[in-house]
Amino acid sequence: MSKKKAMSLLLTAGLVFSVQGAYAQGKEGVPNSQAAAAFDNKIIKKINSDHMYNTVALLSEQPRAAGTDGELKGAMYIKGQFEKYGYQTELQPFKFYDAVRKNVSGTLEIGNKSFHPYVVSGSYSDEVTAEVIHVGKAIAGTVPDAVSGKIALIERGDISFLEKIQNVLNKGAVGVIMYNNSGTSNTFGQAGYGQNIPVVAITKDQGLTLVEQLKAGTKTAHLKVTGSGMEEKTSYNVIAKMKPHKNKDTGQIVMIGAHHDSVPGGPGANDDASGVSAVLELARVMANMPTDTELRFVTFGAEEKGLLGSYHYAGTLSDEEADRMVAHFQMDMIGSKDAGGGHKANGLIMYTIDGKKNLVTDLAAAAGARTALGEAVPYGQLGRSDHQPFHELGIPAALFIHSPLEPWYHTPADTIDKIDKNKLQETAEIVGASVYQIVRPDTPALEHSRVAPGPVDYDFENRPPGA
Ligand code: BES
Ligand code: ZN
Repeated sequence: MSKKKAMSLLLTAGLVFSVQGAYAQGKEGVPNSQAAAAFDNKIIKKINSDHMYNTVALLSEQPRAAGTDGELKGAMYIKGQFEKYGYQTELQPFKFYDAVRKNVSGTLEIGNKSFHPYVVSGSYSDEVTAEVIHVGKAIAGTVPDAVSGKIALIERGDISFLEKIQNVLNKGAVGVIMYNNSGTSNTFGQAGYGQNIPVVAITKDQGLTLVEQLKAGTKTAHLKVTGSGMEEKTSYNVIAKMKPHKNKDTGQIVMIGAHHDSVPGGPGANDDASGVSAVLELARVMANMPTDTELRFVTFGAEEKGLLGSYHYAGTLSDEEADRMVAHFQMDMIGSKDAGGGHKANGLIMYTIDGKKNLVTDLAAAAGARTALGEAVPYGQLGRSDHQPFHELGIPAALFIHSPLEPWYHTPADTIDKIDKNKLQETAEIVGASVYQIVRPDTPALEHSRVAPGPVDYDFENRPPGA
């Protein structure tokens, strides 16, 4: 792809559609701006937030935790909608391991003292009696060989729970007691599949007392966990493709994504039925539109379990395919009445993994000014959603979200009554207009991973999402 083509799109993004442009200011009679508006209108006039709202209402009737019937039901609904719009559609299953807790109990006795430890999520169920050894934070390289055959006492902090457990497991530990590094809680921690030793957590005070006692002499513990473990489950990605016209194919692919799973027990209206509703609405609006670029609409499963669906999907792409992907637009939490308050652009922000602008943010910042929102969208730096695996493949990607988050985030109160149709509409228009700018046949192809430098004026914001 030539530099000229990339420059030309840059002009489209930056100058013709400038956020300071006449259209954004509402003036008339500037040909380029009229053209811009005419192209946007092909998409945005068709976007109907009632459709989106109804999708959110339907999906959030029940939780959709990965691997549950609720997820499958949601995924089948999404697949059915894609098919109805005429897309080539695939339900892509993948397996993962999930923590199970069925009548969980954990006991820890040291000398004549009985602890009431927390059984770490996913801990293996087993019973051991062994000497306790303090290994600090269990950073790799600092764990003594002497941990072999013993129960490791580990301080929380600095590295992940999984790494801590693995580091002592590698040296032959037979059990783990983790102690907190702040507060008075013992409720934390997570063990991984294949880490087949019992793992419990205790409070900071309990831990520090033990550390002192161990300095005075050896101690033997009896540790027992029942009702806990890991179970293999299946989650799904739902994939819809639309190939461009064969005589006018740039060979490039644009991705529009959201995740359809929720947290267990959460109806996930905003997180992320809202994003799914926009994916489906844009799929509806763009079905059968002439394009010169392949469109892929994907809803991911098991995002809440650690971005598992998007990593799985990214892992199934050939190098050649990944190379042809020029943009990933991720919508995750785009409809909350109660998020983003007091911030510009109605609280909408585009988060990138590296905190840098890219093609996606350039196009969407400008689209914000031309569409219902009526102003440029700021950008910031954050992961925590499915734009991560695409960024890692070198694909320009951003997360669209209202930030700071609403108080209902990951609670049973993330329900349809908290959804603002107007926010759904604004975000879908921005993503729709941006995508159309790439895929409509009269714009030039992009040079892959060439990031259009930003003649568009939009700001970086250091805006932590909270929660
Ligand atoms: N919708 C959120 C993403 C999010 C949360 C963005 C908070 C910004 C702030 C997403 O579904 C989520 O909850 N992600 C997890 C991380 C994931 C790797 C399990 C999170 O942030 O805890
Ligand atoms: Zn989410």
